[in-house]
Amino acid sequence: MLIAEAVLADGRTIRVRTADAADAAEIVRLVRSAFGHRPPVDPPAAGLSDTVASVRDRLIDGFGLIAEVAGAPVASMLVEVREGAARLTRVSVDPTAQRLGIATLLVNAVLDLLALRGATTVDVEARVEFGYIAAWWGRHGFVPVGGGAHTLLLRRALPVVAEAATADEMQALGRRLAGLLVAGDVIIASGDLGAGKTTLTQGIGAGLNVGGPVISPTFVLSRVHPPLAEGPALVHVDAYRLGSFGELEDLDLEASLAESVTLVEWGAGIAEGLGPERLEIDIRRGLDPEDETRLVFLTALGPRWAGIDLNEVTR
Ligand SMILES: Nc1ncnc2c1ncn2[C@@H]1O[C@H](COP(=O)(O)OP(=O)(O)O)[C@@H](O)[C@H]1O
Ligand SMILES: [Mg+2]
Repeated sequence: MLIAEAVLADGRTIRVRTADAADAAEIVRLVRSAFGHRPPVDPPAAGLSDTVASVRDRLIDGFGLIAEVAGAPVASMLVEVREGAARLTRVSVDPTAQRLGIATLLVNAVLDLLALRGATTVDVEARVEFGYIAAWWGRHGFVPVGGGAHTLLLRRALPVVAEAATADEMQALGRRLAGLLVAGDVIIASGDLGAGKTTLTQGIGAGLNVGGPVISPTFVLSRVHPPLAEGPALVHVDAYRLGSFGELEDLDLEASLAESVTLVEWGAGIAEGLGPERLEIDIRRGLDPEDETRLVFLTALGPRWAGIDLNEVTR
Protein backbone atom coordinates (compact mmCIF):
# COMPACT_ATOMS: atom_id res chain seq x y z
CA MET A 1 0.00 0.00 0.00
CA LEU A 2 1.37 3.41 -0.99
CA ILE A 3 1.61 5.65 2.08
CA ALA A 4 3.43 8.77 0.92
CA GLU A 5 5.05 10.24 -2.13
CA ALA A 6 7.43 13.18 -2.35
CA VAL A 7 10.07 14.77 -4.53
CA LEU A 8 13.57 14.79 -3.06
CA ALA A 9 15.85 17.82 -3.15
CA ASP A 10 17.67 16.19 -6.09
CA GLY A 11 14.43 15.96 -8.11
CA ARG A 12 13.86 12.22 -7.82
CA THR A 13 10.52 10.87 -6.60
CA ILE A 14 10.45 8.84 -3.43
CA ARG A 15 7.59 6.53 -2.48
CA VAL A 16 6.87 5.07 0.93
CA ARG A 17 4.83 1.87 1.00
CA THR A 18 4.02 -0.83 3.51
CA ALA A 19 6.39 -3.78 3.35
CA ASP A 20 5.25 -7.37 3.07
CA ALA A 21 6.94 -10.63 3.97
CA ALA A 22 8.62 -10.74 0.55
CA ASP A 23 10.57 -7.59 1.47
CA ALA A 24 12.32 -9.22 4.44
CA ALA A 25 15.63 -9.84 2.65
CA GLU A 26 15.75 -6.26 1.37
CA ILE A 27 15.06 -4.93 4.87
CA VAL A 28 17.84 -7.07 6.34
CA ARG A 29 20.19 -5.59 3.76
CA LEU A 30 19.12 -2.02 4.58
CA VAL A 31 19.44 -2.59 8.35
CA ARG A 32 22.93 -4.04 7.92
CA SER A 33 24.14 -1.25 5.69
CA ALA A 34 22.66 1.51 7.91
CA PHE A 35 23.64 0.10 11.31
CA GLY A 36 26.92 -1.33 9.99
CA HIS A 37 27.86 2.15 8.76
CA ARG A 38 27.88 3.54 12.33
CA PRO A 39 30.90 3.20 14.61
CA PRO A 40 30.73 -0.15 16.44
CA VAL A 41 29.12 -0.16 19.89
CA ASP A 42 29.15 -2.70 22.71
CA PRO A 43 26.83 -4.57 22.87
CA PRO A 44 26.32 -4.39 19.10
CA ALA A 45 23.10 -3.04 17.60
CA ALA A 46 20.46 -5.78 17.78
CA GLY A 47 19.61 -5.15 14.13
CA LEU A 48 22.96 -6.54 13.06
CA SER A 49 21.85 -10.04 14.09
CA ASP A 50 18.52 -9.89 12.22
CA THR A 51 17.89 -12.69 9.75
CA VAL A 52 15.48 -12.85 6.84
CA ALA A 53 13.36 -15.26 8.91
CA SER A 54 13.30 -13.02 12.02
CA VAL A 55 12.39 -9.95 9.97
CA ARG A 56 9.70 -11.87 8.10
CA ASP A 57 8.17 -12.93 11.43
CA ARG A 58 8.13 -9.35 12.62
CA LEU A 59 6.54 -8.16 9.36
CA ILE A 60 3.78 -10.70 9.87
CA ASP A 61 3.38 -9.85 13.56
CA GLY A 62 3.46 -6.11 13.02
CA PHE A 63 4.28 -4.27 9.84
CA GLY A 64 7.05 -2.44 8.07
CA LEU A 65 7.56 0.53 5.78
CA ILE A 66 9.91 0.75 2.84
CA ALA A 67 10.96 3.88 0.96
CA GLU A 68 11.94 3.47 -2.68
CA VAL A 69 13.62 5.78 -5.16
CA ALA A 70 13.12 4.66 -8.77
CA GLY A 71 11.98 1.28 -7.45
CA ALA A 72 15.14 0.73 -5.40
CA PRO A 73 14.72 0.45 -1.61
CA VAL A 74 16.63 3.17 0.26
CA ALA A 75 15.11 3.12 3.74
CA SER A 76 12.92 0.99 5.97
CA MET A 77 11.61 0.48 9.47
CA LEU A 78 9.69 -2.12 11.44
CA VAL A 79 6.63 -1.24 13.52
CA GLU A 80 4.83 -3.01 16.35
CA VAL A 81 1.52 -1.88 17.81
CA ARG A 82 0.10 -3.18 21.10
CA GLU A 83 -3.16 -1.69 22.36
CA GLY A 84 -2.60 1.69 20.79
CA ALA A 85 1.07 1.91 21.80
CA ALA A 86 3.40 1.69 18.81
CA ARG A 87 7.12 1.02 18.70
CA LEU A 88 9.48 1.77 15.83
CA THR A 89 12.59 -0.35 15.37
CA ARG A 90 15.36 -0.79 12.81
CA VAL A 91 14.87 2.68 11.37
CA SER A 92 17.39 2.46 8.56
CA VAL A 93 18.48 4.70 5.73
CA ASP A 94 21.01 3.41 3.22
CA PRO A 95 24.28 5.32 3.80
CA THR A 96 24.34 6.39 0.15
CA ALA A 97 20.88 7.99 0.54
CA GLN A 98 21.40 9.93 3.75
CA ARG A 99 20.97 13.71 4.19
CA LEU A 100 18.12 13.87 1.67
CA GLY A 101 15.35 14.07 4.26
CA ILE A 102 14.37 10.44 3.70
CA ALA A 103 14.29 9.52 7.40
CA THR A 104 12.01 12.49 8.09
CA LEU A 105 9.70 11.45 5.27
CA LEU A 106 9.60 7.89 6.55
CA VAL A 107 8.91 8.95 10.12
CA ASN A 108 6.22 11.44 9.12
CA ALA A 109 4.60 8.71 7.02
CA VAL A 110 4.54 6.26 9.90
CA LEU A 111 3.22 8.88 12.33
CA ASP A 112 0.33 9.61 9.94
CA LEU A 113 -0.38 5.94 9.41
CA LEU A 114 -0.33 5.13 13.12
CA ALA A 115 -2.56 8.11 13.92
CA LEU A 116 -5.03 6.97 11.25
CA ARG A 117 -5.03 3.51 12.76
CA GLY A 118 -5.93 4.99 16.13
CA ALA A 119 -2.62 4.49 17.95
CA THR A 120 -2.05 7.05 20.70
CA THR A 121 1.69 6.91 21.42
CA VAL A 122 4.82 5.85 19.60
CA ASP A 123 8.15 4.81 21.14
CA VAL A 124 11.63 4.48 19.74
CA GLU A 125 14.94 3.59 21.36
CA ALA A 126 18.21 5.39 20.63
CA ARG A 127 21.68 4.27 21.65
CA VAL A 128 23.22 6.53 24.29
CA GLU A 129 26.50 6.52 22.33
CA PHE A 130 24.91 8.45 19.47
CA GLY A 131 23.56 11.65 21.00
CA TYR A 132 22.83 13.09 17.56
CA ILE A 133 20.30 10.32 16.96
CA ALA A 134 18.31 11.12 20.12
CA ALA A 135 18.53 14.80 19.14
CA TRP A 136 17.13 13.96 15.70
CA TRP A 137 14.16 12.19 17.29
CA GLY A 138 13.77 15.19 19.59
CA ARG A 139 13.29 17.41 16.56
CA HIS A 140 10.49 15.08 15.52
CA GLY A 141 8.66 15.52 18.81
CA PHE A 142 10.03 12.54 20.72
CA VAL A 143 10.99 13.14 24.36
CA PRO A 144 12.97 10.87 26.68
CA VAL A 145 10.77 8.87 29.05
CA GLY A 146 13.26 6.32 30.33
CA GLY A 147 15.85 3.90 29.14
CA GLY A 148 18.63 1.59 30.24
CA ALA A 149 22.41 1.47 30.32
CA HIS A 150 22.75 1.54 26.54
CA THR A 151 19.55 3.05 25.24
CA LEU A 152 17.28 6.02 25.72
CA LEU A 153 13.54 5.39 25.41
CA LEU A 154 11.87 8.23 23.51
CA ARG A 155 8.15 8.76 23.10
CA ARG A 156 5.68 11.07 21.42
CA ALA A 157 1.92 11.33 21.44
CA LEU A 158 0.17 10.84 18.13
CA PRO A 159 -2.42 13.25 16.78
CA VAL A 160 -6.10 12.43 16.76
CA VAL A 161 -7.45 12.29 13.19
CA ALA A 162 -10.82 13.58 12.05
CA GLU A 163 -12.18 13.13 8.56
CA ALA A 164 -14.15 15.79 6.67
CA ALA A 165 -15.58 14.61 3.35
CA THR A 166 -17.04 18.01 2.41
CA ALA A 167 -16.69 21.69 3.29
CA ASP A 168 -19.89 21.37 5.37
CA GLU A 169 -18.36 18.56 7.36
CA MET A 170 -15.25 20.67 7.90
CA GLN A 171 -17.39 23.49 9.28
CA ALA A 172 -19.26 21.05 11.50
CA LEU A 173 -15.93 19.85 12.86
CA GLY A 174 -15.04 23.46 13.61
CA ARG A 175 -18.31 23.94 15.51
CA ARG A 176 -17.62 20.84 17.60
CA LEU A 177 -14.07 22.03 18.28
CA ALA A 178 -15.40 25.42 19.38
CA GLY A 179 -17.22 23.62 22.17
CA LEU A 180 -13.83 22.83 23.73
CA LEU A 181 -12.31 26.28 23.34
CA VAL A 182 -11.91 28.92 26.02
CA ALA A 183 -10.38 32.39 26.20
CA GLY A 184 -6.59 32.21 25.97
CA ASP A 185 -6.49 29.26 23.60
CA VAL A 186 -4.05 29.34 20.69
CA ILE A 187 -4.61 27.30 17.54
CA ILE A 188 -2.04 26.86 14.80
CA ALA A 189 -3.60 25.67 11.53
CA SER A 190 -1.43 24.23 8.77
CA GLY A 191 -2.12 22.75 5.37
CA ASP A 192 -1.60 23.73 1.75
CA LEU A 193 -3.55 26.50 0.04
CA GLY A 194 -7.16 25.33 -0.25
CA ALA A 195 -6.72 22.64 2.40
CA GLY A 196 -9.64 24.04 4.39
CA LYS A 197 -8.07 26.11 7.17
CA THR A 198 -10.42 29.04 6.66
CA THR A 199 -13.40 26.72 6.20
CA LEU A 200 -12.62 25.09 9.55
CA THR A 201 -12.21 28.53 11.11
CA GLN A 202 -15.67 29.50 9.84
CA GLY A 203 -17.07 26.57 11.79
CA ILE A 204 -15.11 27.59 14.87
CA GLY A 205 -16.44 31.14 14.52
CA ALA A 206 -20.01 29.85 14.24
CA GLY A 207 -19.52 27.61 17.24
CA LEU A 208 -18.06 30.45 19.32
CA ASN A 209 -20.90 32.70 18.17
CA VAL A 210 -18.71 35.60 17.09
CA GLY A 211 -19.42 38.39 14.64
CA GLY A 212 -18.59 37.35 11.11
CA PRO A 213 -17.97 36.83 8.39
CA VAL A 214 -14.87 34.68 8.82
CA ILE A 215 -12.98 35.01 5.54
CA SER A 216 -9.44 34.49 4.45
CA PRO A 217 -7.46 37.21 6.23
CA THR A 218 -4.68 37.16 3.65
CA PHE A 219 -4.74 40.88 2.90
CA VAL A 220 -5.54 41.96 6.43
CA LEU A 221 -3.16 39.66 8.33
CA SER A 222 -5.37 39.71 11.42
CA ARG A 223 -9.06 40.17 12.06
CA VAL A 224 -10.91 40.32 15.38
CA HIS A 225 -14.39 38.77 15.58
CA PRO A 226 -16.09 39.99 18.75
CA PRO A 227 -18.39 37.67 20.69
CA LEU A 228 -22.09 38.22 19.95
CA ALA A 229 -23.04 36.97 23.40
CA GLU A 230 -21.00 35.35 26.16
CA GLY A 231 -17.60 33.90 25.43
CA PRO A 232 -14.26 34.77 23.88
CA ALA A 233 -13.57 36.76 20.72
CA LEU A 234 -11.98 34.98 17.77
CA VAL A 235 -8.75 36.52 16.51
CA HIS A 236 -8.10 35.11 13.04
CA VAL A 237 -4.56 35.60 11.73
CA ASP A 238 -2.90 34.71 8.45
CA ALA A 239 0.83 34.26 8.83
CA TYR A 240 1.42 33.37 5.18
CA ARG A 241 3.29 36.59 4.48
CA LEU A 242 5.12 36.62 7.79
CA GLY A 243 8.65 35.39 7.94
CA SER A 244 9.26 35.15 11.65
CA PHE A 245 7.80 35.30 15.12
CA GLY A 246 9.10 38.86 15.35
CA GLU A 247 6.78 39.95 12.54
CA LEU A 248 3.90 38.13 14.23
CA GLU A 249 4.71 39.98 17.45
CA ASP A 250 4.32 43.26 15.55
CA LEU A 251 0.62 42.41 15.16
CA ASP A 252 0.37 42.79 18.95
CA LEU A 253 -1.61 39.61 19.40
CA GLU A 254 -0.42 39.35 22.99
CA ALA A 255 -2.76 42.20 23.91
CA SER A 256 -5.86 40.26 22.95
CA LEU A 257 -4.57 36.76 23.74
CA ALA A 258 -6.08 36.34 27.20
CA GLU A 259 -9.68 37.18 26.28
CA SER A 260 -9.71 35.57 22.83
CA VAL A 261 -9.30 32.36 20.95
CA THR A 262 -6.36 33.09 18.62
CA LEU A 263 -6.18 31.05 15.43
CA VAL A 264 -3.15 31.45 13.17
CA GLU A 265 -3.30 30.05 9.64
CA TRP A 266 0.11 29.15 8.22
CA GLY A 267 1.39 29.51 11.76
CA ALA A 268 3.64 26.46 11.89
CA GLY A 269 7.23 27.50 12.51
CA ILE A 270 6.17 31.03 13.42
CA ALA A 271 3.37 31.11 15.97
CA GLU A 272 4.78 28.60 18.46
CA GLY A 273 6.22 31.59 20.33
CA LEU A 274 2.68 32.56 21.36
CA GLY A 275 2.89 29.87 23.99
CA PRO A 276 3.77 26.28 24.74
CA GLU A 277 0.12 25.38 25.15
CA ARG A 278 -1.65 25.16 21.85
CA LEU A 279 -3.81 23.13 19.58
CA GLU A 280 -2.04 22.24 16.35
CA ILE A 281 -4.26 21.41 13.40
CA ASP A 282 -2.80 20.02 10.22
CA ILE A 283 -5.23 19.57 7.32
CA ARG A 284 -4.27 17.30 4.47
CA ARG A 285 -5.75 15.79 1.37
CA GLY A 286 -5.19 12.17 0.48
CA LEU A 287 -3.07 10.98 -2.43
CA ASP A 288 -6.06 10.79 -4.80
CA PRO A 289 -6.57 14.28 -6.36
CA GLU A 290 -10.20 13.43 -7.24
CA ASP A 291 -11.08 12.90 -3.59
CA GLU A 292 -12.09 16.07 -1.72
CA THR A 293 -11.93 14.36 1.66
CA ARG A 294 -9.65 16.10 4.14
CA LEU A 295 -7.86 14.47 7.02
CA VAL A 296 -7.56 16.75 10.01
CA PHE A 297 -4.72 15.90 12.39
CA LEU A 298 -5.25 17.40 15.84
CA THR A 299 -2.44 17.66 18.39
CA ALA A 300 -3.04 19.30 21.76
CA LEU A 301 0.08 20.43 23.60
CA GLY A 302 0.48 21.40 27.24
CA PRO A 303 -1.36 20.96 30.54
CA ARG A 304 -4.31 23.09 29.35
CA TRP A 305 -5.38 20.12 27.23
CA ALA A 306 -4.66 17.38 29.72
CA GLY A 307 -7.79 15.36 30.33
CA ILE A 308 -9.48 16.59 27.15
CA ASP A 309 -10.22 13.81 24.73
CA LEU A 310 -10.04 15.20 21.21
CA ASN A 311 -11.67 12.02 19.96
CA GLU A 312 -14.92 13.61 21.13
CA VAL A 313 -14.83 16.04 18.20
CA THR A 314 -13.87 13.58 15.50
CA ARG A 315 -17.38 12.22 15.04
N1 LIG B 1 -13.69 18.32 2.64
C1 LIG B 1 -13.45 19.62 2.53
N2 LIG B 1 -13.02 20.33 3.58
C2 LIG B 1 -12.76 21.66 3.47
N3 LIG B 1 -12.90 22.37 2.34
C3 LIG B 1 -13.33 21.72 1.24
C4 LIG B 1 -13.63 20.33 1.30
N4 LIG B 1 -14.03 19.95 0.07
C5 LIG B 1 -13.98 21.05 -0.70
N5 LIG B 1 -13.58 22.13 -0.01
C6 LIG B 1 -13.37 23.48 -0.56
O1 LIG B 1 -11.97 23.73 -0.52
C7 LIG B 1 -11.74 25.13 -0.25
C8 LIG B 1 -10.92 25.29 1.00
O2 LIG B 1 -10.53 26.63 1.07
P1 LIG B 1 -10.04 27.35 2.39
O3 LIG B 1 -10.83 26.90 3.56
O4 LIG B 1 -9.98 28.81 2.11
O5 LIG B 1 -8.56 26.74 2.49
P2 LIG B 1 -7.26 27.35 3.20
O6 LIG B 1 -7.70 28.38 4.19
O7 LIG B 1 -6.63 26.15 3.85
O8 LIG B 1 -6.41 27.90 2.10
C9 LIG B 1 -13.11 25.76 -0.11
O9 LIG B 1 -13.46 26.30 -1.38
C10 LIG B 1 -14.00 24.59 0.25
O10 LIG B 1 -15.35 24.79 -0.14
MG1 LIG C 1 -7.13 30.39 4.44
